[in-house]
Amino acid sequence: MPHARLNDIDLHWGERGTGDVLLFLHGFPFDRRLWDREIATLPAGWRAIAPDLRGFGASRDTGSAPLTMARHARDMIALLDHLQIARALVCGLSMGGYVAFELLRAAPDRVRGLVLCDTRAEADAEAARVGRRETAERVRREGVEAVVDTLLPKLLAESTMQERPEVGERLAAIMASQSADAVARASLGMAERQDARTLLADIAVPTLVVAGAQDALIPPDVQRALAAAIPGARLALLPDAGHVANLDNPAAFGAAVHGFLATVRTT
Ligand code: MLT
Repeated sequence: MPHARLNDIDLHWGERGTGDVLLFLHGFPFDRRLWDREIATLPAGWRAIAPDLRGFGASRDTGSAPLTMARHARDMIALLDHLQIARALVCGLSMGGYVAFELLRAAPDRVRGLVLCDTRAEADAEAARVGRRETAERVRREGVEAVVDTLLPKLLAESTMQERPEVGERLAAIMASQSADAVARASLGMAERQDARTLLADIAVPTLVVAGAQDALIPPDVQRALAAAIPGARLALLPDAGHVANLDNPAAFGAAVHGFLATVRTT
């Protein structure tokens, strides 16, 4: 797997194809494997780059500070610089969407389009911050496995859990393989994230908001409001899909994203 010393860590990423760049940002607490199918099925003319965000997967980080969204965004700018990519279309799921907003805040000229999946622009309310701190403490005390069983039913649609248990097993395995320290620090980093709603009206790049119609963590109303706040954004609410909509309904997710990509090709 390609990797490079970027900022103060060895950042790893997966890569496939040539052409316009689509930067895939995974959610919490996953790694680049969240996007295996999307990378394998990406249409010709696109180059997929899927990093393990700092602390996750192979991108180990032995620091101690919260893994903030701004820090991940700085890593992504360093990665684009390293690969000599001027502008990328950015596809982020949930926490990956939070990072996409910070990338947009820090370096809007590097973003040529957005696919915002099951994410939100709002910062956490105080109760959610308290929950994040409790999660961080629990994970540090008991390991990542302690939160996997609680998280899983909130991540996938009930139909997936019942009819395709192997999808849940794989997602659980990806979560359980993460470093407890990084998961705790990422939880604290998400609690600190800035509200991104002030950015939305100024987004001037093509944007698709795509989400599961049964997302239990970030409900469809939030997705509708997000799409409505971004000039010209398209909205795709997918049936039979929850928070990790690309795993729940890969065919509908692929159709929505590929349809969008066809409208933003430059090559
Ligand atoms: C994710 O999927 O990245 C998380 O649900 C994000 C969050 O906890 O806010």
